[in-house]
This record gives sequence, structure tokens and C-alpha cells, in this order.
Amino acid sequence: MTAFEDTWHWDINTEGLYQEMVTSADMPPQVSSMIAALRNFIGTNPMMAYLVNMSVRLVELHRVLKPSGSLYLHCDPTASHYLKVVLDAIFGFENYRNEIVWKRQSAHSDARYKFSDVADIIFFYVKSGKALFTPQYTEHDPEYIKKFYRYDDMDGRGPYRLADMASPNPRPNMMYEWKGYGYPSKGWRYQRDTMQKLDEDGRIYYPIKTDGSPDYTKRLALKRYLSEQEGSIVTNIWDDIQPLHGATAERLGYPTQKPQALLERIISASSNPGDVVLDPFCGCGTAVAAAQALGRRWIGIDITHLSIALIKYRIEDAFPEAKFEVLGEPQSVQDARYLAENSRHQFEWWALSLVRARPAGGDGGKTGKKGADRGIDGIINFIDGAKGAPKQIIVQVKSGHVSSAHIRDLVGTLERTKAAIGVYLTLEEPTAPMRKEAAEAGFYHSDLWNRDYPRVQIYTIEELLSGAAVQMPPTSANVTFQRAQRQKSEDSTRQPDLFG
Ligand SMILES: C[S@@+](CC[C@H](N)C(=O)[O-])C[C@H]1O[C@@H](n2cnc3c(N)ncnc32)[C@H](O)[C@@H]1O
Repeated sequence: MTAFEDTWHWDINTEGLYQEMVTSADMPPQVSSMIAALRNFIGTNPMMAYLVNMSVRLVELHRVLKPSGSLYLHCDPTASHYLKVVLDAIFGFENYRNEIVWKRQSAHSDARYKFSDVADIIFFYVKSGKALFTPQYTEHDPEYIKKFYRYDDMDGRGPYRLADMASPNPRPNMMYEWKGYGYPSKGWRYQRDTMQKLDEDGRIYYPIKTDGSPDYTKRLALKRYLSEQEGSIVTNIWDDIQPLHGATAERLGYPTQKPQALLERIISASSNPGDVVLDPFCGCGTAVAAAQALGRRWIGIDITHLSIALIKYRIEDAFPEAKFEVLGEPQSVQDARYLAENSRHQFEWWALSLVRARPAGGDGGKTGKKGADRGIDGIINFIDGAKGAPKQIIVQVKSGHVSSAHIRDLVGTLERTKAAIGVYLTLEEPTAPMRKEAAEAGFYHSDLWNRDYPRVQIYTIEELLSGAAVQMPPTSANVTFQRAQRQKSEDSTRQPDLFG
């Protein structure tokens, strides 16, 4: 929230976007008039600011989509109905496909005053009639199998159910007797030669009496083997994908994280291996991970360095072989300075990602508010000691002026929090007294590795960009972030050239 407080407020940028949308000749007229009508109805407020900001992006997403492409959009019900109207204007009514209901959990506490909200809605639109779509199947429900697949000839072909062999429409040429069994009133579904093949393949069920002789009073049926069925077809109600609960291994600690299975279903239905998947608000990168797992190429966009760092670790951890490029991160001290001037939070998240530290939350006491995390911007965990006890490294980030008082404070914070090591990351060069102050803090001794590490370490952004790393005990299991579990890509692990 701290990072976005301006994003969805009506400001001069939003006004500019609005004017562009209603006046630009490049904007489809139905989109311009819909946006103008919405502003007329909704007014000039944060909701409209959100809709304007989303609409310009949706227009661009529609523009870059291939004729065979699809768009899936999830938004909560506060604004989703407005977005659907906008999507109709951008994609055309005829290109609306579904509202997918993802039933994510069982009833919770709001059930006392209204029907409990347990569903998320995902809109599915396509670019054109050429959109790719592969129906998806799930395994049959065990109850369903028990109820219908009741037969088994014990011939190794497994259980089967009986299916009708009667023609749905009257077909006089299909009215013939088969092996003494009479035809259904509208005739058979199959010609004689097909019937012959089915018979040879043992696929016809011949009713018998208890003594084993043919029962000609009963109807022939087709055997449908369970092993040959694709499962149940997936409809627009998805209640078989569990949300991420507390301790799931998949969970990375990102508030809106979606299960990977949800994104895999979407990607499998609307793309082929090798196709490009774009998530323009990729958060902790679930769509990106799902695309990688399914052998698709991918592009993820997010506005925060926090997300970018998280996705980098996620892909590196889950797909060690995957090749990808991160664009838009500072590459030089000058870039870093530019980022720091624009947003201290973004700079801080990015600097922390250089040492793989987790943001501590809060603002490290920079606004003068006293709190438990005063003097701590980030945390790196590691394991030391015989019992696998987690130890902490606290990280402080400075984009402005530096002084030896900061190092004294860091030593004080180390003592107060009993952390093992303190790391000071700075954009500016540290002074000689600061280096001296840091050296005087001595060493942290690791019993496990029987080694000493400087207790207070100072790194400039320049040093980190040239590859400097925090001196700390080696960690096989990095416990700083919830690590993504290793996965296998279906295709190669290489991201082929995106547009090659
Ligand atoms: C609800 S989260 C996405 C969650 C994601 N689908 C997942 O499963 O993790 C929305 C994301 O959009 C990002 N975001 C907000 N404004 C943005 C913008 N203007 N451009 C790109 N990303 C933005 C936020 O940083 C946030 O990570």
C-alpha cells in the first residue's frame, strides 16, 4: 500500500490518460464513449481512476494479443462489473467466452450477515474467432466411478459402464437384428460393419440370463472403458483447485498469491507449448512459473522491485536451468541514484534484493516513528549451530548521506536484537571513520563452520553491482524467503527467443 498510495488516485496523470482515451483517434470509438459514460456515472474518484488506469492497459493488451490469443482477467467484485463493460467495449461482445467461478474456500465469518463469499470470478475473452482452445479434463469423481463404472470382465481392460447403442433419430437402414437381439425402436446407432468391429473388439455387452444363456428381451449396450475416458470435462465452475492454505509448500508469503494449478489450467486451455504468456501484473509470478512449467515462453511485468526480486528467486529456485532476463533494474550507480530519487521504497527493495534479504516491513525507523523494527530494513536468515537454529543478519539501506553514527546505531541494534551480523548498504561512499567503527565491532564466530565473519559489514551499491557478496556462513537451505520448490519444465528449460 505504501508503494501504491498514489497509483489509483485521480491525479494529473489519470486526467491525462482519461483525456487521451476519450479524444485520441487511435482509441476505438466504443471504448471512448464507454469511458466517458462511466465517468459521467461514477464520477471523478478513486474507482474511476482505477478504471481509467486499467482501461488504457487493457486496450494495449488487446492490441498486442495474437488473433489466436485470449485474455483472462481476475478482479474482485467491487470493480469487476465495470471492467466487464470495458472489456465488452474493447474486445467486442462476440469475443466474450466465460465468467469462470473459482470456488476457493468454504464459508467464513461473514456468513452471519450475508451469503458467504467463497468465489472468485475470472473473465475470459478472446481476440477473435481464431482463438485457440483446448478443452480441459479432470479425473472423474470416485463416487461417480463407483456409481457408473460397475462392470468389469476381469480381462485386464478394467471397469466399464454401459452406453446406449440406439440411434437418437429414426433410421430405417439401421433396423436390423444383431445376433438374435432385436433393434431399438429408432434403429441402431451403427452400421453393420461398425457393429462387426465393435463385436470383434469385445465392446458389445450381450445381456444374459442367470443360467448364462442370451437374454433376448434385454437391449444390447456398448462398453465404455474407464481407462479410455478423458475424465470429466472442466466447466466454468472450478471447485477442484484448492486455495493456498497456511503451510502449503507452494506458498511464498505474497498476499494475493494464486495456486499454480489455477494458472496452469488457464494456460493449458488457451495456448500451446512455445506460445508467449504475458502477465502484466505478475505479483509473485504464479503465471510466470506456470508458463515455465508448461514449456511456454513468458513475460511478466510488475511495478515493484519487491515482486521482481521475488519472481527472480522463485524461478531460480524452482527451475534452476531456466534462462530469463530482467529489464528495468538499475545496472549502474547512476541508475540506482535515479531509482532512489524517485522512490525510496523501490530503491530499498531493489538494494535488499542484491543481497537476497527479505524486506523487514515498516520503514526501518526512518520517519522517526519508534517501533520494533527501528534500524532494520531487511533480514537474511541462515542456519548455524548444532540444532539448526536460525540466525539473523539485519540489513540497513541508506540512499542518502552517511555517517559513523549510523554504524554505532547498527551495532546498538545488533546488541538489542541479538542478531549475528549487521550489513550496511549505501549508495554513497562510506567515510574512513565508518569503516573503523565497523572494524571495531569485531567478528561473529560460527561454531558450525568454525569461521569468523565481520560482525558489521559495509557495502556500497557499486561494490554489490560488481559482484560483492555478504560474508556469512554458507546456506544450503536459504531460509530468508520461502523457497519455491524445484519443478520440471515440460519443454526445454531454456526460454527460447521471445519474438524470434
Ligand atoms: C493482485 S497482485 C497480482 C497477483 C498475481 N497474479 C499473483 O498470483 O501473485 C497485483 C500486482 O500488480 C502490481 N501492479 C500494480 N500496479 C501496477 C502497474 N501499474 N503496472 C504493473 N504492475 C502493477 C502490484 O505490484 C502487484 O504485485
